[in-house]
Amino acid sequence: MLEGFGVSRELSLAEIFQLGYYWETKILLTAVKLDVFSTIGEQSRTAKDIADRLHADEPTLSLLLNALVAMKLLTKEGDSYGNSSTGLKHLVRHSAQYIGHLLLLHDAEWNNWGQLEETIRTGRRAADRHVFETDPELGSNVLTVLNRIGQQSGPDFAKRLKLVGNERLLDLGGGAGTNAIAFCQVYSELGATVFDLPATLKLTEKTVKDAGLESRITLQPGDFNRDQLGGPYDLVLMSDILHYQTFQMNQDLIKKAFVSLAPGGRLIIKDRFLDETGTGPAWTTAFAVHILVNTQSGGCYRISDAVQWLTKAGFGSAVELEKTAVVQGVKT
Ligand SMILES: C[S@@+](CC[C@H](N)C(=O)[O-])C[C@H]1O[C@@H](n2cnc3c(N)ncnc32)[C@H](O)[C@@H]1O
Repeated sequence: MLEGFGVSRELSLAEIFQLGYYWETKILLTAVKLDVFSTIGEQSRTAKDIADRLHADEPTLSLLLNALVAMKLLTKEGDSYGNSSTGLKHLVRHSAQYIGHLLLLHDAEWNNWGQLEETIRTGRRAADRHVFETDPELGSNVLTVLNRIGQQSGPDFAKRLKLVGNERLLDLGGGAGTNAIAFCQVYSELGATVFDLPATLKLTEKTVKDAGLESRITLQPGDFNRDQLGGPYDLVLMSDILHYQTFQMNQDLIKKAFVSLAPGGRLIIKDRFLDETGTGPAWTTAFAVHILVNTQSGGCYRISDAVQWLTKAGFGSAVELEKTAVVQGVKT
């Protein structure tokens, strides 16, 4: 059943076909991997010119280029191909709005998806390590894109949490520092610590410096499953980190966060939670399969799981602040 305009209706046959249709997906991912869009750049180039630059087979490449024209990512005039304005903006590497790194991540995960049937039959996962561990450079590039996207939503998120002001925030697994930076920009007296793996913090150092917040944001390198978190903090944030971990790892991490909080302090968990039936939100049900296929032991959890972790860790109150997205524990 599809939910549209509040009405449930059956899927049409065309929609079923559409769901099973991935040709364009792989055409796009391959074009980004080959870096077709950057190779064309702002010029208009023949298939031969592009093939020479890419060391590719011209007749074969032409098929890909024509499909990209039909997908509105390239244009074609006579024998020459150019980038569409969208292609130029988002798929040419030197563009400030390049999002190709995210697509490269999807491409790197392609073979794991090919093993989905085997995974479902046996319960054994295809990935022994997440791509971020096997290819840290790709991981850092993806975080750069996520940082750019997150900059748009970060300030509103900070405001919705209604901080008092001069608090001390720990952004656990804070990545590029997207949230810590947004929070410090919204609350001028806030001080923050971004705790992350040393490799990730190289990027964070740059984003914090670019934001001019070196004096208010401290970087703490470490492994949050092994190392102490420091403190005491008034607010601990866990944004998009728990779905990479097992249930028990999350329980242990939330206990650690509890210890690092001052009395009255809050733990905010922002994640992609499934609803209690497991069948929604729709995007998250597919994301749960993605996590199954592409991580060694991650999972999408439910709000009730988070409430259980918080209660067991000692939080006096555990409340869902935003549906299937944000849970808060208060150390009463
Ligand atoms: C999906 S990113 C989320 C980044 C950020 N919290 C956000 O919401 O934009 C997950 C982050 O967790 C970090 N991370 C993963 N495992 C970690 C560990 N064991 N200790 C510290 N950081 C870790 C990664 O380096 C990465 O920055």
